[in-house]
Amino acid sequence: MVEFSTKKESSFSILSDMTPAADHTKKIKINAEGINCYFGKVQALKNISFAMPEHSVIAIIGPSGCGKSTFLRSINRMHELVPESKITGSLTLDGSDIYAMDAVVVRKRIGMVFQKPNPFPTMSIFDNVAAGLRMNGVRDKKQLTEIVEKSLKQAALWNEVKDSLSKSGVSLSGGQQQRLCIARTLAVSPEVILMDEPASALDPISTAKIEELIYELKKEYTIAIVTHNMQQAARVSDYTAFFYMGELIEYDVTKKIFTVPAKKQTEDYITGRFG
Ligand SMILES: Nc1ncnc2c1ncn2[C@@H]1O[C@H](COP(=O)(O)OP(=O)(O)OP(=O)(O)O)[C@@H](O)[C@H]1O
Ligand SMILES: [Mg+2]
Repeated sequence: MVEFSTKKESSFSILSDMTPAADHTKKIKINAEGINCYFGKVQALKNISFAMPEHSVIAIIGPSGCGKSTFLRSINRMHELVPESKITGSLTLDGSDIYAMDAVVVRKRIGMVFQKPNPFPTMSIFDNVAAGLRMNGVRDKKQLTEIVEKSLKQAALWNEVKDSLSKSGVSLSGGQQQRLCIARTLAVSPEVILMDEPASALDPISTAKIEELIYELKKEYTIAIVTHNMQQAARVSDYTAFFYMGELIEYDVTKKIFTVPAKKQTEDYITGRFG
């Protein structure tokens, strides 16, 4: 199997057989090796090895309860926030051990957007986007204003809110709130964005906006998106990973997964025979 090229200086080792044989000029941004996640005695992820090339969109699909969210949360160190959770294996960002870094730094470099939009309820639109920057010590009003505007533009929300930045974040519609949360994530300039079903509660117009946004964002960011929508996975992603019962069954270029999957379980899932 062809492997992605890796920068000589980066220290991550073997790439798994699961690495898709696609554009092997891309550098690996995130590399998971042998990840096991537990909630108490329940094992939610089993030996997941998985490389994410930079400036790509990676879709994660699979039936409910198969471990998709757990995998995303293990990447930005949110799994460990659950009581009695445990994780083993190796996860690297640009070749450095994510679990040896400061968790706050990890979550700054690896942003997350959740299924349900969660703007800070007591804050204005402006303050919602500026919150992370302020937490990182940015105080300069001009700098804050510039970054808030840039982030809202990137999240395709600026035109709708530019005259009402002082209004409460929760006064927006669900689709607008989700784009607000994306702007909030972008404002702190992450390198990787993890999206857990970001469009599942949205109408087709908001969904299309988010999909366009993802397409734009991959020029600068590496994006993993969990989705139950097969068309969405096929439309937005370069690579698709199929999870089933805590295992990574197949990971390949999206076109291949949706046309000639190697595994019968993948085929059954994408054709709607189960899950
Ligand atoms: N906080 C938790 N405490 C205990 N078990 C959990 C917790 N979160 C998830 N699990 C278990 O871990 C497994 C994987 O859950 P996860 O949320 O990762 O699935 P998922 O693929 O994201 O599902 P869905 O598509 O429904 O969002 C499930 O068996 C679930 O019950
Ligand atoms: Mg989930």
